[in-house]
Amino acid sequence: MSSEKRIILVTGASNGIGFDTTYALVATSPNNHVIMGVRNPSKGEEKLKEIQARGIQGTLSTLQLDVTSDTDIEAAVKKISSSYGRLDVLVNNAGICLTGPQTRSTLHTTFETNVYGPYLLTLALGPLLQKSSDARVINVTSGLGSIAMRTDTTNAYYQVKQSDSYRVSKAALNMVGASTAAQFDAWGCKTWSFCPGFVVTDLTGVEDRQSRRDNGAESAETSAKGIKEIVEGVRDGEVLKFIARNGEQYPW
Ligand SMILES: NC(=O)c1ccc[n+]([C@@H]2O[C@H](COP(=O)([O-])OP(=O)(O)OC[C@H]3O[C@@H](n4cnc5c(N)ncnc54)[C@H](OP(=O)(O)O)[C@@H]3O)[C@@H](O)[C@H]2O)c1
Repeated sequence: MSSEKRIILVTGASNGIGFDTTYALVATSPNNHVIMGVRNPSKGEEKLKEIQARGIQGTLSTLQLDVTSDTDIEAAVKKISSSYGRLDVLVNNAGICLTGPQTRSTLHTTFETNVYGPYLLTLALGPLLQKSSDARVINVTSGLGSIAMRTDTTNAYYQVKQSDSYRVSKAALNMVGASTAAQFDAWGCKTWSFCPGFVVTDLTGVEDRQSRRDNGAESAETSAKGIKEIVEGVRDGEVLKFIARNGEQYPW
């Protein structure tokens, strides 16, 4: 592997926004290598082949990485370290949204994936990011995690019926970004909170895809384009901001 390549880890790369982001990053950029973080290795291999079959210029590999597993996180750090010696971009994309009654268990499960996972993974990868000359961390959060929008009755996000566990976890993920950024600030790591928009994925279940379309959700390719722009420096003037697609910024 050429050390000139940009080494990018995308968590939750086996589906939805993570999958489309992986493709967007390798489709036309020979200098990008994407490590597809996947919790299910056989699904990950299938998805890697699906992307390769499209004809890509960049390169891909898969890495078993359930973000709720400390063992997976530790093994991932070792593997990235021995294979590449550094990490240039971390896209904390893996996430879940549990609908239905909101219980202690719902909150706990959601926080394991959406908050504890990205926090602990980012910290564990800190030394490898520090070896990059252009380190970037992109936390895929949601406008539903904006406290300002949740408390503005005129805001479109105020009306969205989504699980409170999800909203609370994404607000916490925004703080994860702010806190890890403060720790990494001394060596110049850039961090963003990015809302990928309302898009058609399996986030609230495969059976929900049509209702997402009916309610105006766009293709996850638009989210992927937004993440690719951050990787390529288009949003470098907005480091530490809560940003969205199409040049938008959200209030915290
Ligand atoms: N879709 C939207 O409208 C929307 C809006 C705002 C924010 N987001 C955010 O976008 C991100 C991606 O979601 P999506 O919409 O693409 O949903 P998705 O289609 O359900 O994909 C989620 C991905 O995360 C993976 N994942 C779930 N739990 C994991 C864990 N413990 N460890 C590692 N990977 C895990 C899934 O793996 P499997 O393939 O194994 O299931 C899948 O690859 C999430 O953070 C979500 O909150 C989405």
